[in-house]
Amino acid sequence: MSQRVLTTESGAPVADNQNSATAGVGGPLLLQDQHLLEKLARFNRERIPERVVHARGSGAYGHFEVTDDVTGHTHADFLAEVGKRTDVFVRFSTVADNLGGADAVRDPRGFAVKFYTEEGNYDLVGNNTPVFFIKDPLKFPDFIHSQKRDPFTGKQEPDNVWDFWAHAPEATHQVTWLMGDRGIPASYRHMNGYGSHTYQWTNAEGEAFFVKYHFKTNQGVRSLSTEQAQELAGKDPNSHQTDLLQAIERGVYPSWTLYVQIMPAAEAADYRFNPFDLTKVWPHRDYPLRRVGRLVLDRNPDNVFAEVEQAAFSPNNFVPGIGPSPDKMLQGRLFAYADAHRYRLGVNHTLLPVNSPKAVPGGASNYGRDGFMASNSQGRYAKNYEPNSYDGPVETGRPLSAPLAVSGHTGTHEAPLHTKDDDFFQAGELYRLMSEEERSRLVANIAGGLAQVSRDDVIEKNLAHFHAADPEYGKRVEEAVHALRED
Ligand code: HEM
Repeated sequence: MSQRVLTTESGAPVADNQNSATAGVGGPLLLQDQHLLEKLARFNRERIPERVVHARGSGAYGHFEVTDDVTGHTHADFLAEVGKRTDVFVRFSTVADNLGGADAVRDPRGFAVKFYTEEGNYDLVGNNTPVFFIKDPLKFPDFIHSQKRDPFTGKQEPDNVWDFWAHAPEATHQVTWLMGDRGIPASYRHMNGYGSHTYQWTNAEGEAFFVKYHFKTNQGVRSLSTEQAQELAGKDPNSHQTDLLQAIERGVYPSWTLYVQIMPAAEAADYRFNPFDLTKVWPHRDYPLRRVGRLVLDRNPDNVFAEVEQAAFSPNNFVPGIGPSPDKMLQGRLFAYADAHRYRLGVNHTLLPVNSPKAVPGGASNYGRDGFMASNSQGRYAKNYEPNSYDGPVETGRPLSAPLAVSGHTGTHEAPLHTKDDDFFQAGELYRLMSEEERSRLVANIAGGLAQVSRDDVIEKNLAHFHAADPEYGKRVEEAVHALRED
């Protein structure tokens, strides 16, 4: 086999890849050395903006297979038949640190699934936690600023982390979750995934349901203690990446079973708490888990940058039969992601193979045109306006999902008041579900962070939240913080 020739970007053969061209032996470089200039210039442009959150992540391909009939609740085509398989790409991530951060840290994990369905790509962009810290998207940039590196010290600051939570009583449930045993997964394979938000399903008759998604790991949930994580993060900062990559290379394919909780739309208004509040779970006794199918990951990407770094997931990518609920957080996310993709990857990011809709060979079928890096040819006589008289693509007249009921006046309202909308009762229920050993570890983890905070008023505000969740919980955290601060 003849050896392939090294070329410049324009395809011309390169004569020497070891020595730059110089004016005479030992002389200065020549501007005419196209290969050198191009190589240095291209290298300078290798990095693109990292994700503002979830920068550090790992991805893999696989499939989703339907195991149970859900056609009574959604007419989504990829869920239409038991046994139906749909290709997927999944990206897992940590949230707060920048690219290059360690994997084994106490932080939620992203769990983003792209289903390449025959009716368009469906993105379910969730976390490994069923709830979240806040319930209004207006607070998201402030929240993230408080958790990422401080602009002055350049590192995560307990003062900022806990100051935000001091002002966010609604975070108490998620803080309890994060500081508990599941706060540091042993690997991406050993954690559950949740859609977290409430979404809407619509069946063929147009009936609407509200649903919550749960991916349960078939590897079993395994977590790390704070001490184990600190050691592992030092030894192998890429521990989650190593684990996922190697498991798939060895043929040990991780899988998750998907369940949903289903609430008939008519029950939402009178439920005892706001069912669209992202800081709360729906008790399984009210809405039991129903099995839907199995997610399997069996192929590693060939190129991490091309396929994982450039992957673009958006909660706004729905398919017929699935839509948003009125959850304010979800509504905010419907804007944020595609906007981030246009900034991070450009307007033509859906032309990249990992993002392109497999339902429409050659890319989206619409009248969007041009922009940086446009490589699709909707050319020749294809018109770039609509309506037209030339057989261009046309609308279906069929909305993807049922309409949402609205009432009242515009304004900056607090969430609608249901009978039990307080911020603490589910945090208390989670605490009371824990064994004595789990409670001790939870209290130690919280105290370890809170005791580093420099302001007493910030500590007191946080303690008040744990007291409100459960008096014993509050008392134990308070004692542990005071003991550490007296040391
Ligand atoms: C990534 C915004 C809440 C899960 C991102 C990105 C943005 C963002 C801008 C980067 C996207 C990119 O550059 O590709 C927001 C806003 C939120 C919010 C404004 C609240 C209003 C949430 C919640 C969850 C979540 C509640 C989970 C339930 C994720 C995941 C990623 C991500 C998994 C990484 C996706 C990937 O792997 O590419 N978020 N986020 N986010 N977010 Fe959120």
